[in-house]
Amino acid sequence: MRALRGEALAVPPVWLMRQAGRYLPEYRAVRARAGSFLDLCYTPELATEVTLQPVRRFGLDAAILFADILLVPHALGADLGFVEGEGPRLSTVTSAADFARLKPAEAVLGALRPVYDTVRMVRAALPAAVPLIGFAGAPWTVATYMIAGRGTPGQQPARELLYRDPATFDALIERLEAATTAYLIGQIEAGAEVVKLFDSWAGALPGPLFARYAIEPARRIAAAVRAAHPEVPVIGFPRGGGASYARFAEGAGVQAVALDTGVDPAWAAAALQPRLCVQGNLDPLLLVLGGDALLDATRRLVEAFAGGPHVFNLGHGLTPDARPEHVEAMLRAIRG
Ligand code: CP3
Repeated sequence: MRALRGEALAVPPVWLMRQAGRYLPEYRAVRARAGSFLDLCYTPELATEVTLQPVRRFGLDAAILFADILLVPHALGADLGFVEGEGPRLSTVTSAADFARLKPAEAVLGALRPVYDTVRMVRAALPAAVPLIGFAGAPWTVATYMIAGRGTPGQQPARELLYRDPATFDALIERLEAATTAYLIGQIEAGAEVVKLFDSWAGALPGPLFARYAIEPARRIAAAVRAAHPEVPVIGFPRGGGASYARFAEGAGVQAVALDTGVDPAWAAAALQPRLCVQGNLDPLLLVLGGDALLDATRRLVEAFAGGPHVFNLGHGLTPDARPEHVEAMLRAIRG
């Protein structure tokens, strides 16, 4: 919390994107008990258990709520399933008629009650010194899944709708913005002390539209969250933003910016860190490989950001083939 408020700390706090997940045997055991991934997300006792697992095992400095960014489209009425080994599948929104079938933004208040219950249970179980991070997907990233009905590397279906039917596209972004704001405030009121907005596909936006669909929605969501809860820091993650990271850091009104693996720490330390806290950005592949490459990169990253506020993290999520013993080695290298 001190780093997010702008303090440079001698040892950076650390948590990891996707810290609860399939690389942990204890996660796989609970996941098997839950049945499906969605059942795990919607069963507060089990979602609480997997949220706490990595904090317990590694002594991480923050917990992140176990849920998924696609629960918001689910609450808005999209059909959602996760296909083993393939990823998410959703009913698609590609026309004004599809859009008209979606539920109003307030649907997230009732439909996502199990998530708020998880937040309450996690908060009650966590040590007081370990903050709980709530999260949601940013409107553009969530829209890309709703439009395509699945993950698509270049987000072509979403870009097509944006060019072909801008009125429907804008209506969808606006609905997601309202739903996301209500959802994040709901998480805060249940006990989340930080919130993070994942714009994992920001890098697929055409450059001239980055401000309109990545910065502006983040700015409006962060402003609404901060108006309701001024003490809660907001972390923005415009993954793949490249040169637009500077504009995002300046214009989104967030208290921290999460850096993807491609961002050069030396540049970010000079260009971003004087203005706000940075989070990131170790290559997640190093937690698969381990060894000196992991230790060297970890130490260099800590040094690069030692002059300002920094939350140590990965440049993207842990992968299922990451090794828990490499996470431990990384933590020893950070903490000395
Ligand atoms: O970080 C954490 O530990 C908290 C939980 C969390 C999950 N998903 C759990 C999850 C968070 C913060 C997310 C966010 C999320 N979900 C994003 C944005 C962050 C990013 O990674 O860029 C996105 C794009 C999604 C959508 C999503 N969820 C996809 C594309 C997939 C399938 C890919 C895969 O790895 O299978 C998921 C599933 C998912 N969400 C898993 C986990 C642990 C794996 C599912 C399983 O247990 O089988």
